[in-house]
Amino acid sequence: MIDETELQPAEPLQIEPIRISPMRHSDIEAVARLERICQPLPWSANAYTTELNNPNAYYAAAKSADGDLAGYGGIWVIMDEMHVTNLATKPALRGRKIAERLLVVLIREGIARGATRATLEVRESNLAAQGLYKKFGFLDVAMRKQYYSDNRENAYIMWAEDLTGDAYQQMLALAEARLFPKS
Ligand SMILES: CC(C)(COP(=O)(O)OP(=O)(O)OC[C@H]1O[C@@H](n2cnc3c(N)ncnc32)[C@H](O)[C@@H]1OP(=O)(O)O)[C@@H](O)C(=O)NCCC(=O)NCCS
Repeated sequence: MIDETELQPAEPLQIEPIRISPMRHSDIEAVARLERICQPLPWSANAYTTELNNPNAYYAAAKSADGDLAGYGGIWVIMDEMHVTNLATKPALRGRKIAERLLVVLIREGIARGATRATLEVRESNLAAQGLYKKFGFLDVAMRKQYYSDNRENAYIMWAEDLTGDAYQQMLALAEARLFPKS
């Protein structure tokens, strides 16, 4: 049972007004452009077209009030496992809880599709992403040596377990109340 008082942050978060919706084919050009800025090994526009046609995949786009792409992310769900494939925020809009909000939406979608655990790979040097994922219960449980082909950097493999358990559900509900305050 969630204590309602816990849902109210002492000071309301200053967060960028964004709208998160399923990524559409018409978003791909902007997504691929942002991907080239954000990812050392960017996926192509064609790769995103394939992803949007993949029934096991779900991609979300975060847009600012003017309709510009602010961030995006995606998952695959196979059986009871979801895999976070990609997540990025436009550099000028970082630190405004856009990635957190995208991640909450992706995790909810994964759970709705039957996932009970979640995994992802993250670069050893990517402390920002690791901090984000740790906030959502991901722990680094293994390392893939020289996983990334551009600089042979190691990857941490992170897992979040028991997504449908009471503790995780309560954490998600608190995060949603913080990140999506009702006006
Ligand atoms: C990682 C990334 C997605 C974070 O996006 P963002 O919208 O700025 O993140 P948020 O504002 O939602 O931050 C949420 C949490 O992430 C962590 N975080 C984000 N930026 C951070 C930074 N520069 N340093 C340390 N931790 C950071 C923190 O834990 C933060 O929570 P806090 O504000 O309570 O400290 C963004 O930096 C990015 O697009 N990086 C390039 C692409 C990438 O690395 N993607 C992830 C791997 S696929």
